[in-house]
Amino acid sequence: MTEAMIIGGGSGMGFALARVLVADGKDVTIVGRSTERLTAARAELMRAGDGAVQVMRADIGREDDVAELFAGTGQVGHVVVTAADATGVYGPTTRVSVDTARDVVNTKLLGAWLVGKHAAGKVTGSLTFTSGINAYRPNGSNTIMAAANGALASLAYGLAIEMAPVRVNVVSPGWVDTPIWNQLGMDTQAVFAELAEKLPARRIGAPGDIADAFLAVMRNRFITATVLHVDGGHRLT
Ligand SMILES: NC(=O)c1ccc[n+]([C@@H]2O[C@H](COP(=O)([O-])OP(=O)(O)OC[C@H]3O[C@@H](n4cnc5c(N)ncnc54)[C@H](OP(=O)(O)O)[C@@H]3O)[C@@H](O)[C@H]2O)c1
Repeated sequence: MTEAMIIGGGSGMGFALARVLVADGKDVTIVGRSTERLTAARAELMRAGDGAVQVMRADIGREDDVAELFAGTGQVGHVVVTAADATGVYGPTTRVSVDTARDVVNTKLLGAWLVGKHAAGKVTGSLTFTSGINAYRPNGSNTIMAAANGALASLAYGLAIEMAPVRVNVVSPGWVDTPIWNQLGMDTQAVFAELAEKLPARRIGAPGDIADAFLAVMRNRFITATVLHVDGGHRLT
């Protein structure tokens, strides 16, 4: 049986989770929109260990894609959703287009709901969504993403009742050094260094920090309807 399907697993923290599992000999499926990105990720994962790596293309915001994804899948132990596209979403609300806002909600919130809808009966252990620090510590930018992230908690609580005994949780990362920042066109490392000084953990997150959190909620069979914050203490700054 596939240990985990990671939707968004072609890069960033989803990829980090896939790498840990493959290194442990577990079979994984990684899902995203870009076949090229998935194929490159698969090649790298296959160098990490003995687990089998399957790639499947799907846009989590499209019901036909998500339905097909799960129709073509046998039973899977855990589903983890890390998919997000932050294109055009940074900046004050007055400068973000409604099309961008719809895209964000469509991918992060409605996409997660679609996974809950179509994974039912296929996932046996847990379903985990990925939220984010901006839901809990707003910073005057990216507010629609923050709203979608915050709503994931309510979605997980509701699905934890509906899908029980499958466990449904949210991992909420702080700032993590992943490709999602690349499109911002800023000196990311300088911004990270500045924030790191203020964080109780005194560092920015690494993708592996979040992979460890995913593993914790996947493996602990008493964690359900929970938001696990993995943010280096960012909520206190
Ligand atoms: N990095 C941070 O500092 C941070 C902080 C807080 C929260 N988060 C959250 O953490 C999660 C993971 O982000 P990350 O930092 O690991 O970013 P990432 O490296 O950009 O990974 C996101 C992945 O999602 C896939 N994706 C995007 N839109 C998709 C769609 N509609 N359908 C299917 N796959 C899609 C992307 O691949 P394709 O483009 O090929 O589809 C990409 O591989 C996101 O939900 C993000 O909001 C990140």
